[in-house]
Amino acid sequence: MTHLVTENCIQCKYTDCVQVCPVDCFYEGPNFLAINPDECIDCGVCIPECPVNAIVEEGDLPEDEHKYWFDINQRLSQKWPNITKRKDPMPDVELWATVKNKRNSLREE
Ligand code: SF4
Ligand code: F3S
Repeated sequence: MTHLVTENCIQCKYTDCVQVCPVDCFYEGPNFLAINPDECIDCGVCIPECPVNAIVEEGDLPEDEHKYWFDINQRLSQKWPNITKRKDPMPDVELWATVKNKRNSLREE
């Protein structure tokens, strides 16, 4: 089992989550973070840290959503650099935090 970063993180990147992860399994892209499912120990401490509730336990997602976000977290965590320290969120974060359908805005590079 793993935890996964989902849609609400896109274009926000608050990064509060990375500070608490005991195994440092967050990876940073241009406007999203990914968890490496092979490294996550499923401790759950990152969930309450995210101001926009972007992190979920994989078992809490419906099947189609699970496959979508699992594949994204797995693939992008292998491509992006590790992040372990909190940094400023993205510009216009208050605006983006309220946008619901933004998965097409996820940038891989
Ligand atoms: Fe890290 Fe625990 Fe969150 Fe997994 S559930 S990403 S191990 S803090
Ligand atoms: Fe993203 Fe939330 Fe972490 S917005 S960077 S999952 S604190």
